[in-house]
Amino acid sequence: MTYRHIPVMLKEVIAILGPKPGQKFIDGTLGGGGYTLELAKRVGDKGQVLAIDLDELAIANAKKLIKEQVLHNIKLVKGNFGQLADLVPTQFKKVDGIVLDLGLSSAQLDDPRRGFSFLREAPLNMAFGDEAKEKTEVIINRYRAEDLAAILKDYGEERFARSIAKQIIAARPIKTSQELLAAIGRGVPAAAKRQSKIHWATKTFQALRIATNDELGNLEKFLPQALKLLKPGGRLVIVSFHSLEDRIVKNFFRDEAKDCLCPPAVPVCICKHQAQVENLTAKPLVASALEIKSNPRARSAKLRAIIKK
Ligand SMILES: C[S@@+](CC[C@H](N)C(=O)[O-])C[C@H]1O[C@@H](n2cnc3c(N)ncnc32)[C@H](O)[C@@H]1O
Repeated sequence: MTYRHIPVMLKEVIAILGPKPGQKFIDGTLGGGGYTLELAKRVGDKGQVLAIDLDELAIANAKKLIKEQVLHNIKLVKGNFGQLADLVPTQFKKVDGIVLDLGLSSAQLDDPRRGFSFLREAPLNMAFGDEAKEKTEVIINRYRAEDLAAILKDYGEERFARSIAKQIIAARPIKTSQELLAAIGRGVPAAAKRQSKIHWATKTFQALRIATNDELGNLEKFLPQALKLLKPGGRLVIVSFHSLEDRIVKNFFRDEAKDCLCPPAVPVCICKHQAQVENLTAKPLVASALEIKSNPRARSAKLRAIIKK
């Protein structure tokens, strides 16, 4: 299978990270290697890039690209960026920049062994790596109606969460993506299907993917660990595609740029929190119209960045 992924907002990411010869960077979401390879070329032989991904397929693809492009300064690690501190070898304990490009790659979406897409028949496995490979099936076949509906509502903002959850439960056991699609179809009213701009199963599939991979939890765990690994002047860039992810990043960056986090009712600061960063993006950057035209996936991308003091 050929690995397919067009990097989103590559120019903007590189402009903010500003890689120079000899510097060190961490790419927490290797994917198709778009950011990693560009960083590696710019830091040269004396610099280094650590690239992490949960997905064996991404690691295997990167090994091939590294060989083809004769690069000697990339270290690949299979693991979860939520456990960043444990994955980082000593030489990456203080780095010039860290980047995350969240969500899934086009190669994963196309993978017939996984159930990310509702467009083809596949087993119910929406895990990025091996860690959670049975989780989607457990959520779909074992969760109580309220818990399933909460996932669809919270992570997918799905209006018909309760009715879809009811239909999923009625159709159990569900074994494949097409059986799941049929159950979702019975939970969405025909008029809503006709009026929806996106496919009526999109939000449910997205919600199940986010829950399977604990995507929000991993992002929350990652952010403070990343901050610790940055040198003074080091930069952290996050590209996200979901409003809940963007909110987590926005709030973390806002708090870390403040000297005190006490509630307004407290007259004198008791938290002693000190600002560690400056915000580089008061508002998130978005992809250009030109990029969105050539890569529609860039449409919902939001880029936020900070610099460590
Ligand atoms: C959108 S792709 C990254 C694309 C990459 N920037 C490029 O230019 O090709 C996201 C990647 O992050 C990986 N990923 C998602 N969550 C992860 C996590 N918690 N830890 C490690 N990798 C993760 C996915 O497996 C996927 O390969």
